[in-house]
Amino acid sequence: MASNHLDIQPISGAMGAEVSGVDLAQPLDDQTFGEIYQALLDHCAIFFRDQDITPAQQVAFARRFGDIHLHPHIRGLPDQPEVFPIIKDVDDVSNLGDSWHTDQMFTDTPVRVTMLYAKEVPPFGGDTLFANAALAYDNLSDGMKAMLAGLSTRNQYNKKKPRAAAMKVEAVEEEAPQAVHPLIRVHRETGRNVIYISYDGITRNIVGMTEEESRPLLDYLRHHVARPEHTCRFRWQAGTLGLWDNRSVQHLAINDYHGYRRVMHRITAGPEASH
Ligand code: SIN
Repeated sequence: MASNHLDIQPISGAMGAEVSGVDLAQPLDDQTFGEIYQALLDHCAIFFRDQDITPAQQVAFARRFGDIHLHPHIRGLPDQPEVFPIIKDVDDVSNLGDSWHTDQMFTDTPVRVTMLYAKEVPPFGGDTLFANAALAYDNLSDGMKAMLAGLSTRNQYNKKKPRAAAMKVEAVEEEAPQAVHPLIRVHRETGRNVIYISYDGITRNIVGMTEEESRPLLDYLRHHVARPEHTCRFRWQAGTLGLWDNRSVQHLAINDYHGYRRVMHRITAGPEASH
């Protein structure tokens, strides 16, 4: 859809676009916000360079997409708890998000939108990969689509995954939260079918099957979604704000910048049941 205000440049054949012509530090009128929302639906992930925004301004923008989700185990900024800093420091080995996933599959109402604002980036590396899981569904055979219809998955928070020491992750003492979601999710706004899974530490099994029985099919779908022709790769600069449609996109933060610091401010917004 053409925009009256925004310049929208796709970054790959599968998904993703850079958007310019808007200052996200300012309150947005409804028309401009509507164009941004449409760009998000059309391109699945959109990126705005050279933004200079405070945590409070980022929260104000995120609220336009719905209520903000507070992570149950990762603390936000002391004076802006809605903003959860993702930090990998110079002596950290692990990072957050280095396996393909969609956010919050362990809750009944995962958010519609995840937003990242790049505060500090390494001189090279630290890109994020994104995959269009609706396009991946379209590229399945009719036989496979028929087989997947009606299946559900069990998803559980992965408390064992190593994370950067710089991140304030609280220990999960009790049973980690879990949720059941349709394996093929229908996107409420686009009407498209989406392969809705994460890596095996989150999406554990197909309901009614053991983890062992489920693994070959789930691994096939993970491999299929991540095929290069379904993806884009985004290079961050300090001041870039990116957001993606968490209903139709999987993402992976590449951990290839050891010895450098990377700091991103994340907000997730718009809880929505998957079925
Ligand atoms: C995440 O939300 O999984 C992290 C993405 C990133 O840091 O690039």
